[in-house]
Amino acid sequence: MFLRVNDLTAGYGGSTVLTGVSLDLEQGGALALLGRNGVGKSTLVMTLAGLVRPKSGSVMLAGRELAGRRPDQIARQGVGLVPQGRRVWSSLSVADHLELAARRARTPDPAWTVERVYERFPRLAERRGHLGGQLSGGEQQMVAIARALLTDPALVILDEPSDGLAPAVVDQIDDVLRKLRADGVTVLLVEQDLHLAFSVCDEVAVMAKGQVVHRAATPAFRRDPDTAHRLLGVAA
Ligand SMILES: Nc1ncnc2c1ncn2[C@@H]1O[C@H](COP(=O)(O)OP(=O)(O)OP(=O)(O)O)[C@@H](O)[C@H]1O
Ligand SMILES: [Mg+2]
Repeated sequence: MFLRVNDLTAGYGGSTVLTGVSLDLEQGGALALLGRNGVGKSTLVMTLAGLVRPKSGSVMLAGRELAGRRPDQIARQGVGLVPQGRRVWSSLSVADHLELAARRARTPDPAWTVERVYERFPRLAERRGHLGGQLSGGEQQMVAIARALLTDPALVILDEPSDGLAPAVVDQIDDVLRKLRADGVTVLLVEQDLHLAFSVCDEVAVMAKGQVVHRAATPAFRRDPDTAHRLLGVAA
């Protein structure tokens, strides 16, 4: 298994948010991580990326233990993070963001270069001189995704990329993520937008109270609206 998370616990100070998360993901696969607000999805994402320190448990990526390592070490092992809220700098240009990220590529001959990013995201090429603060939400999300790609990741983790975006812009994100999959990148997608999650991912995992409580293939999950309603409170 490419990614194997086993009995991971983590939290903030004295409070434990993740109470034993286990999940796995095969190479080239895409898993949607669903769950109501506050169940610990972002905490899991940040723990996988090394930004929250695990209290116990294991995160194996391609046979290497990542739990307890620093964010830069985890990035070098091939984990690219697109954080919730995008974290684009308002006073740096698009080109600045991309060039800074390209310097952190983990291989001398990376699959993703700034030029290739501009081909994949023509909108960013047009706006390369614009400052982060002048971009639309969708353009900022493209920068956040492009920045992760430039580190040449084997696994991309996205935390609610559709958040706050208009449906037409979510369709563009959908297109970008499906192309990434076609490139062979493994995807872990935290989403509230079920349409996007189902479009991109062949499996879903649902978190509740700091654990993964349900796992299904996307078509099976779509045929089971009662489970979606019980765990997510929405009609899938
Ligand atoms: N930096 C922090 N310090 C302390 N508690 C935090 C911190 N970040 C999150 N929490 C708490 O951890 C719990 C899980 O939050 P988390 O952000 O992981 O949930 P989430 O599933 O990503 O929610 P959402 O869908 O709203 O993004 C919540 O109770 C939240 O208040
Ligand atoms: Mg979150």
